[in-house]
Amino acid sequence: MGYIWIIGLHVTAVTVWIAGMSVAAILISALDPATAAEPGPARLLRAAARWDRRVTSPAMGLAWILGITLVVVGGWGFEPWLVAKVIIVTALSALHGKLAAGLRRLGEAAPESGVRTVSPLLRFSPLAVIAGAIAIVTLVVVKPY
Ligand code: HEM
Repeated sequence: MGYIWIIGLHVTAVTVWIAGMSVAAILISALDPATAAEPGPARLLRAAARWDRRVTSPAMGLAWILGITLVVVGGWGFEPWLVAKVIIVTALSALHGKLAAGLRRLGEAAPESGVRTVSPLLRFSPLAVIAGAIAIVTLVVVKPY
């Protein structure tokens, strides 16, 4: 398969991954943990968790595999734009793990005392997803250094 085809598939996988992460991030920052396990919100959380398992996570895996394939096939090395890109991609992948766990956790019935919570920092996750995507795409397209 030609290099340009691998880029096409890579960008498609990345788009599906970032779209799914945006949905998870918006849901988690919008829902109140105190009422998230009630039937309405819990249904949304279950649907989002299912989408994450079946679509977003495989797309993330594919984006990684195709990204690494591009590095090998394209003969890229430790160019600064690529190193910076992989650092941000790794941070986004970790954030994806936190969001996926948050979707499952918020939708579960609360324990006897109190409610289930997720890190309050996840309130900023939609912003982090967008900022990360802007930084990555700019780095790989402009290759400023
Ligand atoms: C898993 C780590 C990743 C690696 C190792 C990787 C590596 C690469 C490489 C080597 C290219 C080809 C660059 C060229 O030939 O000019 C590329 C293209 C691209 N990557 Fe990634 N990538 C990864 C993840 C991502 C993510 C998460 C995004 C977006 C959020 C992304 C967006 C893009 C875009 C838009 C292009 C096309 C650039 C162009 O054709 O000008 N990549 N990637």
